[in-house]
Amino acid sequence: MKTRITELFGIQHPIIQGGMHFVGLAEMAAAVSNAGGLGIITGLTQGTPEKLKNEIDRCRAMTDKPFGVNLTFLPSVTPPDYPGLVQTIIDSGIKAVETAGNNPAKWLPMLKAANIKVIHKCTSVRHALKAEAIGCDAVSVDGFECGGHPGEDDIPNFILLPRAADELTIPFVASGGMADARSLVASLAMGAEGMNMGTRFIATKEAPVHENVKQAILAASELDTRLVMRPLRNTERVLNNVAVERLIEKEKAMGASLKFEDIAAEVAGVYPRVMIDGAMEAGAWSCGMVAGLVYDIPTVQVLIDRIMSEAHTLISERLARFDAS
Ligand SMILES: Cc1cc2nc3c(=O)[nH]c(=O)nc-3n(C[C@H](O)[C@H](O)[C@H](O)COP(=O)(O)O)c2cc1C
Repeated sequence: MKTRITELFGIQHPIIQGGMHFVGLAEMAAAVSNAGGLGIITGLTQGTPEKLKNEIDRCRAMTDKPFGVNLTFLPSVTPPDYPGLVQTIIDSGIKAVETAGNNPAKWLPMLKAANIKVIHKCTSVRHALKAEAIGCDAVSVDGFECGGHPGEDDIPNFILLPRAADELTIPFVASGGMADARSLVASLAMGAEGMNMGTRFIATKEAPVHENVKQAILAASELDTRLVMRPLRNTERVLNNVAVERLIEKEKAMGASLKFEDIAAEVAGVYPRVMIDGAMEAGAWSCGMVAGLVYDIPTVQVLIDRIMSEAHTLISERLARFDAS
C-alpha cells in the first residue's frame, strides 16, 4: 500500500511502531522494520549518546530496512543530554525521528540539515498545526484512547482525525486505539495516511519485555485502563493494578495540593521493574484501551501481514459492496 507516509519514510506498509519506554529496544524496532513497517528505538530508554549509538548499531545488525529513533522531550530538573542524543542520531545515519512531548523546534534545524524526516506526536489539532508550521514532515495524531500521555483535551480519534485532516497539509498517521485492519482502514477513511501502534506491538513474540506484560495486555479488556496524574497536568493512561488504585486514592485525597513527590513511589523507576522483571504491580505503566482488542501474541510479521491482507479485503470487498449497492 502506497501513501504519503510510506513514501516519506521509504517503507512498504503505512504502519509505525511508536516509541515506548523499555519496549522500543533494537529487537522491537528491527522486527517492525523487517515486517515492512517503521520500527522506532526509544532514545530516552538508552539515556546516553553512547548507549543510543550501541542500540542503533544493534538494530542495524538485525535489519537493513529503515528504522527511526524516538526523542521524547520532557520538562526535567536534570534533563538528558539531548544535544548528544541528537548528534548521535545524525552521526548514525538515522533518517527518521519521532519527536514527542515538548515542541521540537529547537532541534529541527539540525535534524533537517541531516536530511532526517521528523514526525511529531501530538494530541491536539493546534499542536499538529504548530508542528506543521515549524517544519515537521508529518505528525502522529494521538487520540484520547492512547496508551501513554493523551494530553488534557480528551478528544477521541473519531473527532480528532477528521479535524486533523480538515486542517493539516502535511501527512499524518492515526495513533491511539489502533490494533488491526479495521483501525487502518478507518484511519485512512478519516484522512490519515497510516497508523501508529504502541500497546498492540507489546503483545508480540519479538517485543523484548517480560512474558507477564504480554499476558497482562492479552487478559485486559477495554475497561482496564485508568488515567493518572491529571492533577499534575501530566495525564497518563495506564493499566490498572494495585499501585494505580493506591495512586488514584492519593489523588482523590490530596486534590489540588498533590505534588509529584507524593506519588513518586507509584510512578518513578517503574518501567524496568515491569518490563524486565515482570513485576506487574510495581507501579503505573502506560497501556492503551486497545488492550481490549488484543486477542493473541503473534510475531510482528504475522501481525503486520494480517493487518495488510485484511485491510485489502475490507476495502475491496466489504466497502466495495456498500459502494456498489
Ligand atoms: C508502555 C508504553 C510506553 C510508552 N513510552 C513512550 C515514550 O517513551 N515516548 C513516547 O513518545 N510515547 C510513548 N508511548 C506512546 C506510544 O508511542 C504510542 O503513542 C501509544 O502507545 C499509542 O496508543 P496505543 O497504545 O493505543 O497504540 C508509550 C506507550 C506505551 C504503551
